[in-house]
Formats: sequence, structure tokens, C-alpha cells
Amino acid sequence: MVFKRKLYPEEMKIIERIVDFVKDKHHRAEGHDYSHVLEVCRLSIEIARKVKDPVDPFVLMCGALLHDIGRINAPNGLFHGLDGAARANELLKSYIDDEKLSRQIQQIIVSHTPESMVIPRTPEEKVVFDADTIERLGFMGMVRGLMGKSGTMGDIIEDRIHKRLQDYSKLFYPVSRKFAKKAYKETIAVSKTLRKDLVRRANEIHEISSYSLIKEE
Ligand SMILES: [Fe+2]
Ligand SMILES: [Fe+2]
Repeated sequence: MVFKRKLYPEEMKIIERIVDFVKDKHHRAEGHDYSHVLEVCRLSIEIARKVKDPVDPFVLMCGALLHDIGRINAPNGLFHGLDGAARANELLKSYIDDEKLSRQIQQIIVSHTPESMVIPRTPEEKVVFDADTIERLGFMGMVRGLMGKSGTMGDIIEDRIHKRLQDYSKLFYPVSRKFAKKAYKETIAVSKTLRKDLVRRANEIHEISSYSLIKEE
């Protein structure tokens, strides 16, 4: 285990309060519900236990639990990393006196999504980025990515496939790639099935628009 230290009892109490907050609010974050947040938190701990970089367990857990706070009541979510850090700043003021600690947690929230265009730098930021990326892979991640999107089905599916297939190569730690392998294989399989179906559909549409079905009769 490469955690820098153990959690203090008062830190555990703060984590419990954040868990309660997340539980209460995250049903209003579209597909990014409470189970997503807890799974990212669990994966973050699993990864941190295996990496050589020393990781602060309190900063890591708070960052993982609050990483998608910017998605609550935010249908678009484009700026959820930046918005989330601002929301967390207000929330953390009531829990933590140490501003440096609070800033480290906010930086995890900013850098966890590529949309912020801020590259993760600290071990805690890289671990939560990897955990969130792993959670997106696989069948469930693909389904969540399709929720609430507007546009043609072909465009939405192609966009999701393109993004998910790139995720694996973005992971920072080799151990993260090990954890992601099974879900990544699932992503490839799902992508193949969806693409095959899109081609079949396109062919069927062509049959109708070219009147070939009628002409054959
Ligand atoms: Fe996110
Ligand atoms: Fe997330």
C-alpha cells in the first residue's frame, strides 16, 4: 500500500458527511449517479494501493467523492470540472480549515475531465482521472454516454465509440490499464456490434430510398 499515512478520526467524519451529501444530491446528475461516484472512489483506492507514488488518502477520497459535483443539476456538463471545483470550494470551507488541502481536492475535480483542458499532475489527480476513465469503459459506461444526447443515432453512437476507444491509451498508470483491460475488451465488442448494426441500417435505408424492393417485384 502506498498511502502516505492513515486517516485521522476527524477526517473519517468529514468523509462520512461528504458521502451523505453525495448520496442525497447525485440522483440529479443524469447518468452520473451515486453508484458511479462510489465506484470511482473504490477504484481510486484500488489504484492508489498499487502505484509507487505516495498518495494522501484524505485528499484522494474527498476528490473522488466530489469529482462530479459539477454535474448535479447541470444538464450539459461541459464545464462540470471547473464548476464542480467552485461548488466544492464553498462546501469544503465548512469542513476543512486547511486551504492548501482544500485546493488540492479542488484541483482533482478540475483535472478529472479532459473538457477542463487541465492535465492531472499530482498522484491524487492522476489516480482519480484513471478511476473515472476506467468506470466509463465497458457496457454500462457506453449506455450512460448515450443518455440524454441529441442528434442522429449514427452520429451519437460514432462519437461515443470514438471517445471510449481512446480512453484506454489516456490512462496514466500501468496498473490502471490492468484494471481496465476487461472493460476495454467489452468496449471493443460493444463498439463492433453497434457499428455492424449501423451498417445494416444504412443498407436497409438504401434499399428503400433506391426503390430496389419495389423494382424486384
Ligand atoms: Fe466527470
Ligand atoms: Fe465521473
